[in-house]
Amino acid sequence: MRGRIFSGMRPSGRLHLGNYLGALQNWVDLQSDYECIYSAVDVHALTDMQGDVTKEIKPNINEMVLDWLAAGVDPDSSIVFVQSHVREVMILHSILSMVTPMGWLMRVPTFKEKVRQMHETEETVSYGLVGYPVLMTSDIILYKADTVPVGEDQLPHIELAREIVRRFNNLYGETFPEPQAKVTNNPVILGLDGKNKMSKSLQNHVELAYSEEETIARIRTAFTDPERLKRSDPGRPEICNIYTLQKYFNSDKLDEIYRRCTSADIGCVEDKQMLADSINEKLADFRERRRELADRTDYLEQVLGDGAAKARLIAQETLSEVLDRMNLSVR
Ligand code: TYM
Repeated sequence: MRGRIFSGMRPSGRLHLGNYLGALQNWVDLQSDYECIYSAVDVHALTDMQGDVTKEIKPNINEMVLDWLAAGVDPDSSIVFVQSHVREVMILHSILSMVTPMGWLMRVPTFKEKVRQMHETEETVSYGLVGYPVLMTSDIILYKADTVPVGEDQLPHIELAREIVRRFNNLYGETFPEPQAKVTNNPVILGLDGKNKMSKSLQNHVELAYSEEETIARIRTAFTDPERLKRSDPGRPEICNIYTLQKYFNSDKLDEIYRRCTSADIGCVEDKQMLADSINEKLADFRERRRELADRTDYLEQVLGDGAAKARLIAQETLSEVLDRMNLSVR
């Protein structure tokens, strides 16, 4: 039997190269070997979008799902849906909250980091943020997925999901498979600042759907070797994130770029132009497909409606089983 994949992304709008190289590329490739379920996790987005800004969630979902489909996620073979459209996940989240010790949640490194980033304290932070990995676990196990393709930043969450599953299975009998993370060869893509993970909130990102001109302008802003002050100074590719990105987009010219950078035969400006040209060339088909899909009115709505209907069938079956096992069934 084919394994089952579940993965999700927060709807923060158009995706960037980090999302693509760290996860989306894998999502597309895995479709030939697994039954795949991909979700726009809008409830998770509420951990840092509150009040009026929630108006942005719907358009953000549309932009993100367009990226998925243009990159090759195939809604005829995979289930593509919006998290909140299958309400069973919220019930499972409440149930799993009862079997998850607070200590496990407070120790998750991403929790502490997020509290810091949001300028909150453990006193002021929402209960939902503490439970973020419990909701993530609910996403995965509601569909009894065994494999979860993600970037490296999500690994602590998957580890916690495995612990929650073990505890649930111990208490109520073997119900869920222990999910395994699956990272790509590029588990962390650094941003244009050259030191932090590429991320929209840090504004160090390159969106897949940028125009050619936007891509060139954006790559020009990237940090390179800070000790390369003059065009005639030799560069140090090993500490330059433009060189790292060249590995993904100019893999056939890597040796040449290394040699020409370290001998000052090319400067940072030319190096960046080569990278931007190659990104533009490699994403040309994606961008064209994205434009075509965006012009098809009602298409996204239809994909997400069909996806939710298919996801709901699996979710209802799992939830009935869970409620039965916990003696909460209405029958
Ligand atoms: P999110 O929306 O932050 O990111 C989506 C995916 O992109 C990967 N990613 C990166 N990979 C490498 N380098 C980067 N710079 C980079 N930036 C983002 C992330 O690792 C992720 O795979 N909590 C999840 C969403 C989620 C989920 C789930 C994932 C909710 N429920 C269930 C898997 C299973 C998140 O916030 O991802």
